[in-house]
Amino acid sequence: GAAKLSPLKQMYKEATEFYHHILMTTKIGQRARDYAAKRQLNEDLLQHFNIGYAPNNENILLTYLRQQGYENKLLEESGLFVKSQQGELFDRFRDRLMFPLADEGGYTVGFSGRRISDDPEVAKYMNSPETEIFNKSKLLFHFFEAKKAARSENRLILYEGYMDVIAAYRAGIKSGVASMGTSLTEDQVYMLRRITPNIIINYDGDNPGVHAAERATKLFDKVPGFNLGIVVLPDNLDPDEYVKKYGVERYQGEIAGALAPLEFLLKRLASKYNLQNDREKLAYINEAIKLIAQVNDPVANDLYIEKLAKQTSATRESLKASLLREQRRLRQVQRHKTVVSKANNSDPPQIDLAP
Ligand code: CTP
Ligand code: MN
Ligand code: MN
Ligand code: MN
Ligand code: MN
Repeated sequence: GAAKLSPLKQMYKEATEFYHHILMTTKIGQRARDYAAKRQLNEDLLQHFNIGYAPNNENILLTYLRQQGYENKLLEESGLFVKSQQGELFDRFRDRLMFPLADEGGYTVGFSGRRISDDPEVAKYMNSPETEIFNKSKLLFHFFEAKKAARSENRLILYEGYMDVIAAYRAGIKSGVASMGTSLTEDQVYMLRRITPNIIINYDGDNPGVHAAERATKLFDKVPGFNLGIVVLPDNLDPDEYVKKYGVERYQGEIAGALAPLEFLLKRLASKYNLQNDREKLAYINEAIKLIAQVNDPVANDLYIEKLAKQTSATRESLKASLLREQRRLRQVQRHKTVVSKANNSDPPQIDLAP
């Protein structure tokens, strides 16, 4: 049998089942079922992701959990309730579609609730506060399920939002995960590294999404051994919107066409300069050489020098000379760092042995 859950996890399990039951079977769940249908969340998806509904009621969960015997202390610690100035507890989540957030063992440790009304005054998503069991910088949505699927799919896809992970699942991609609406953390990168080196980043195609992908690419670069691909969807679409608009097959084509990190970063870089202007073109070449130089692979170096030559009509020879100079400079910086660290430590320099 399963190990006994901590009281807090047991409470979250009961809350998850309670909200799920309300969504799937009750009359007050009808509005949420209508919303779910509009978002193409069919019954299978609602079951797999254990999605629920927190009705527009100030204490339905509180009353239920009290009936189950939970005491005030634990109810307060759970983060599922807010406390009035009079010290009274009220349900935190109201009139929201509830996405359970599971830990690595698959147990709910928090919720994210999506507004189902179209009232723009209400925050679109609301999360559980951090608790003893919920640390959002160390959690990835759908990680417990995705790590199983990653074995057969031999890769894992990183998304921005819950709805994107769910849309991917509908499209037959079961290894999707999402960080918690904040930028990716190093802890999350190491979680992914334990599962597979093959990671695809598929954030939203809008400006913030592409920007976040650029940041994530640089973060992955700090951890050795990844084989990274980046997908940028057209027309500012997010994966959920893309699948809805263009269908599953075309979406899978986008995934298959993922860019290598350097290719993606160079494209991003080029978009920031006006290459018709010589001053900007030279600045672009300078920055591009810096990116290319960081890759210690002569074949990749040649490939991107070739592309850069075509793009800017600079000669291969001059670009290669700049590349060699930059690589020499990088080696010098590296040597200098080693010398400084040896001078500062009686112990040998620390080698990072993390996976
Ligand atoms: N997010 C959040 N709070 C917000 C907006 C976003 O926590 N007010 C987080 C959520 O985790 C969300 C992710 O950031 O899934 C991406 O945001 P966004 O692209 O705006 O939302 P979508 O995932 O596209 O959600 P939907 O399709 O329901 O609008
Ligand atoms: Mn169920
Ligand atoms: Mn977004
Ligand atoms: Mn989005
Ligand atoms: Mn969306």
